[in-house]
Formats: sequence, C-alpha cells, structure tokens
Amino acid sequence: MFNKISVKLTSGFGICLLLLMTVVAVNFQALQKLEKLYHRTVQCGEELELASDAQHIGEDLYQIIANSVINRDLAGSARLWTAGKKTALEKLARISRAAETREEKADVGLAGQAISDIVDIYERQMLPLIQRGAPVPGPLSEIDAQIDQRIDIIEISLRHFAQSVSRDAQATNANYHQVLNATIRSGLAISLAGVLIAFATSAWVTRLIVRPLREVTRAILGMERGEHPVQIAHKSNDELGILADSFRTMSGRVEKRTAQLTESNAKLQREIGERARAEEAVRTLNAELEGRVRERTAELTSLYEHLQTVREEERASISRDIHDDLGQLLTAMKIDLQWLKKRLPGDDARLAEKAGQLEGYFNDAIGIVKRISADLRPVLLDDLGLSEALEWYGREFTKRTGIACTVEIDCDCAHLDQDRSTALFRIFQEALTNVCRHAEATRVCATLEESGEELLLRVSDDGRGAREEELRDPRSLGIVGMRERARFLGGALAIESRPGAGTSVCVGIPLGKAPEGVAL
Ligand SMILES: Nc1ncnc2c1ncn2[C@@H]1O[C@H](COP(=O)(O)OP(=O)(O)OP(=O)(O)O)[C@@H](O)[C@H]1O
Ligand SMILES: [Mg+2]
Repeated sequence: MFNKISVKLTSGFGICLLLLMTVVAVNFQALQKLEKLYHRTVQCGEELELASDAQHIGEDLYQIIANSVINRDLAGSARLWTAGKKTALEKLARISRAAETREEKADVGLAGQAISDIVDIYERQMLPLIQRGAPVPGPLSEIDAQIDQRIDIIEISLRHFAQSVSRDAQATNANYHQVLNATIRSGLAISLAGVLIAFATSAWVTRLIVRPLREVTRAILGMERGEHPVQIAHKSNDELGILADSFRTMSGRVEKRTAQLTESNAKLQREIGERARAEEAVRTLNAELEGRVRERTAELTSLYEHLQTVREEERASISRDIHDDLGQLLTAMKIDLQWLKKRLPGDDARLAEKAGQLEGYFNDAIGIVKRISADLRPVLLDDLGLSEALEWYGREFTKRTGIACTVEIDCDCAHLDQDRSTALFRIFQEALTNVCRHAEATRVCATLEESGEELLLRVSDDGRGAREEELRDPRSLGIVGMRERARFLGGALAIESRPGAGTSVCVGIPLGKAPEGVAL
C-alpha cells in the first residue's frame, strides 16, 4: 500500500506543499510584525508632529489674549478664547495620551499646569480689568509678564517632550528598518530554503519513479533492437517493480522462444539447402533426360522419315512388280485363253461356258491387280499430279463403297513437290478409309485450296461423328500418322467432330521450301 507510485507522488507533493505553507506562514508572521512596527513608526511621527505643534499652544492663547486687550471686543474675544482654550486642551490631552515615560509625563504635566495658569490668570485677573477698561500700561502689563512666563514654560516643557518623542520615533524608525531588512533577508532565505528543499524532494521522488522507468524503457528498446539477453536490476514492490518482474519473465520467454526460432531457422535453412541441392540434382537429371529425349526424338524422327521413305519406295516397287509382272502375266494368260477359246470344238457347250467363266476370272484378277497396284502407288500421282490423283481416288472410293464423294480443287498443284503431294494424298486416303470404316456416312466432300502461304485440304463427311476419346484412342494409329505427316512438312492437322454431326479433317501445309531431309 505504502509502496505504490501514487503514494510516493502524493508524499512528495505533500512535503512540497507543507514546505510551501511553512514558508508562507513564517513570512506572514514576519509581515504582521512589520505591520505593527510600521503602525508604531507612523504613530511616533504623528506624536512628534503633535509635540512640535503643541509648543505653540501658549503663543496661540497669548495671541487671543493680546487681541482681546487691544481690540476690547469682549464678545468676539470670548468666542475666540473659548475655541482656543478648547483646542489647546484637546492638543494637551492628545499629547498626554502619547506620553509614555515618566519624564514625558512630567513635561506634559508642567505644560498642562502652565496652560491652566494662563487660563486662570486671563479669566480671573485680566478679563475683569479688560472689562473695566483698564489701560495697557499698568496692572495689565504685570499680568502679561506672568503669562509670558507661563508661555515659556509651555514651550520649554513641550520641546523636551518633542525631543523625547523624536528620539523614540527615530529609535522606532531605525528598529522598523532593521526589522524590515531582517524580515526581507530571513523571508528570502526561508523561501529559498523551502524552494530548494521542495525541489530536492520532487527531484528525489521523480528519481525514485523515473530511474526504474528509464531502466525498463532502455531494456524494452534493447529488446526491440534484438539485443539478448536484456537485464533489469530494479526490484521493488510497487507498480514499477511489478513491471520490471513482468519484463524479466517476458524477456526470459522471448529469449527461450528466440533460441527455439533460431534453432528452427537453422534447421529450415539446412532443409532448404538440402532441398535446393535436391532440386539442382533434379534439374540436372531433367536436363539430362530432356537431352536424351531430344536425342531420342531426333533419332525417332529420322527413323520415321526413313521408314516413310522406305515404305513409299517399297509400295512403289511392289506396285510396279504387281502391275508389271503379275498384271502382264495375267494379261498374257487372258490372251492365251482367248486364243484357246477360239479353237474350242464348237459342239461342246460346257467347254465354251468354262472358258467364258475363266475369262471373267482373269478380268477380275486383272482389275484387282490394277486396284492394288493403284492403292499402293497411284501412277496418276506421279504422272498427272495431286489434283488428278485426288479426283481419281474419290471416284474409285465412290465406286467401291457407294458413298458419294466430291472433290473440289481450287489451286494449281501441278508443280507441287513429291513430298507434299504424297503426304496430302496419303492423308486423303486415310481420311476416306476412316469414313468408310467408322463414319456410316452417305456423302463425303473434299476440298483442296490455297490459303495465303498454305495449302489446305479438308475432308468432311455427314456421318455419325466421333467422341473425343475415340479420336485420342492410343491403339488407333491412322490419325497419329496423318498428324505426323503434316507435322514433318511444317503443317498441322485439326479434326472437328461431334457425335451425330459428322467429322471434318482439316490439314494445312505451308507452301514454302520443304524442311531439309524430309522425304515421305
Ligand atoms: N470420319 C470418321 N467418322 C467417325 N469416326 C471416326 C472417323 N474417323 C475416325 N474416327 C474414329 O476415330 C478413331 C481413330 O481413327 P484412326 O484412323 O486413328 O484409327 P482406326 O481407323 O480405328 O485404325 P487404323 O489405325 O487402322 O487407322 C476410329 O477408331 C474411329 O472411332
Ligand atoms: Mg483409320
């Protein structure tokens, strides 16, 4: 309870207030004393003034007496005498009240006796003579001498009194100034001491509160800068002590947590390093793999090119052999059969019938040989070019399958190189084969046209269409082959097909120079 900051502050403030009140009280007492002295000094001054004024009481009375003697105005002189006498007695009464010492009282007593003598002499002795009209020289002169004597007594005795009062006044005045100076000095000293003590007290109380606060603040700032460990020495039972204790606890926790975090961070850094190394290894492996894949792809590509070339050459060779050898042989056999048929006995109908049948078989065989030979390598493609070959193949397709096939050519393909002609023809063949095998179509429409720098072949049917999965079936190689042929010539193949909406195969091949080494 007594250790709380508020108690410390209140105590400090209370001590300062007490000191202030003490200083004020002491100064107030000194001022009161000074005020009394001041009144006394003023009073002394007044008394001195009165005393010096009173020295002339006798003269004032004598002035009235002289007037009454000279003017003989009894009524006026009586009024003046009454007023002068009253004034003189009042002044004497005031002086009597101011007299303090025995000598002063004696002086005032002498002056009072002299005034009453003057009054007595004037009223008892002079006034009757004046009323009777006595001349000035004579008894009045004698009485006048008595009055002069009393006036001197008044003046002398009151001068003594005035001198005594003056001494008192001077002493009082000197005392007043002495006390005033002493009061000012002591007041200043007490005030200064009070201020100094109050300042020291407030500084002490402030230090009591501020020092630990500063220590806590320094520690908090140190912690903010990340300094560890942060120490606080302050210990007390007040709020600052509680604050310092809490800070110590918190600092301990922060230190512990920081150590944990540092450890975790180091672990994380190690893991990141390991992961980076692993990623680097994976990247290296990937690069190696990619290199190998590229190499393998290049190998496969050239193998594919080679295979396509060999395949085309094989096809052409087989086609030639079938056409030239087998076709010639069959034709020769058919000619021989016709020769035999002409020499058959005329009466044997069965022989004639058999010969006719045999001729029919030969015709069929020759037709089949022609078709196979044309399928393998259409002579038209080499002799007349792509347009003729496409139109011929479309007609043959219709004949064979009964599916109407129209071929529209809108370009001059006479000078098209063999690679492109062969690729487009094979794509056309595969597209029509697919129509025959899968489309259930009644009509096929093929167009070949030039579009910018490209040659576009589109084969569209009105068949059942195909699902996406069918077109991407990994076991089917027809579409893959078409796409590969287009790709090797720098072109691309796209298939638009939806179930129930037919299929459209579109291939675009650039008309520029064929890629080097590509021969399909
Ligand atoms: N014109 C079409 N109409 C409907 N379906 C088609 C058409 N063309 C292709 N398909 C579908 O796409 C699949 C893939 O055709 P692709 O030519 O690749 O293989 P395939 O003809 O089945 O076999 P092959 O490898 O002998 O050509 C076909 O099995 C068929 O289901
Ligand atoms: Mg196919």
